[in-house]
Amino acid sequence: MDIVPLGPGFGAELRGVTLADVASDDGVYAAVRAAFEEHSVLVFRDQEATDELQLAFSRRFGPPEVTKVGSQGTGSHFVILSTIGADGKVVPPDHRLSLRSKANQLWHTDSSFKRVPALTSILSARIIPANGGETEYVSTRLAFERLDPAMRNRLQSSFAWHDYAHSRSQIAPDLASPEERGALPPQCWRMVWKNPVNGHGAIYLASHAYAVEGMEKAAGKKLIDELMAFATAPGTSYLHQWRRGDVVMWDNRATMHRGRPWPAHEARLMVRTTISATDADGVDTMRPPSSQAAE
Ligand code: OGA
Ligand code: MN
Repeated sequence: MDIVPLGPGFGAELRGVTLADVASDDGVYAAVRAAFEEHSVLVFRDQEATDELQLAFSRRFGPPEVTKVGSQGTGSHFVILSTIGADGKVVPPDHRLSLRSKANQLWHTDSSFKRVPALTSILSARIIPANGGETEYVSTRLAFERLDPAMRNRLQSSFAWHDYAHSRSQIAPDLASPEERGALPPQCWRMVWKNPVNGHGAIYLASHAYAVEGMEKAAGKKLIDELMAFATAPGTSYLHQWRRGDVVMWDNRATMHRGRPWPAHEARLMVRTTISATDADGVDTMRPPSSQAAE
């Protein structure tokens, strides 16, 4: 297996390894897992990503999420990202599916609004538009390292509130349905996720974050906005241009990502599997002290 660095200080392409190798071979999995902890974004090219193989690969990393209510693929282990309607045609730009794909174009980390946040997401490209539709990544670990020491200290003992309805409301006020709001109450997480394997901290934020615990609302939002801008500063991202057969996985503890737009009339179909974070991944250190007794 060759590890070829990709992005500005993070991200790597793994060559000479297939999804099936990872699924079936403990040694290959261990090598890929080590690369994941180190590089945060891993790219696999020329894969034959069937749903079954993608899931078998994904399961290696931990328990797969069940897709939430309101998403395509609900109740299964797959999230279907597409703007193709039930009739097989690409939906118009004001359709709910188009608005949802716009919400994915805000910088975020996956599942920070869930009761159990995500360790990793695995995304495979099934239909790729001719132009645009890239996925862009930043390292919130490198961003954390760029912060001054006083801010690093402060964030390590700060907690932010995350809400799915908040990120969706940035696109349209009622994009999160009453069902989704009911199923997904706001969650509070430490603002730094420390990787238990290598000790590196990373800013833990997303478009879902709307308040900082103990701070006045506007001041907390301002801090979140400033940190989001800092973490996504120009020149710090890796832009993944999708090719047929690509599979990309990322560490939701140490990165943020966003989809990039593509011409509205073109089809794009992506399939995502998402693995929940466990205590071995540090999730136990992310909950505010007061919630530990209540859990
Ligand atoms: C995701 C996501 C962006 C994209 O799969 O979690 O945000 O480019 N995708 O499809
Ligand atoms: Mn996402």
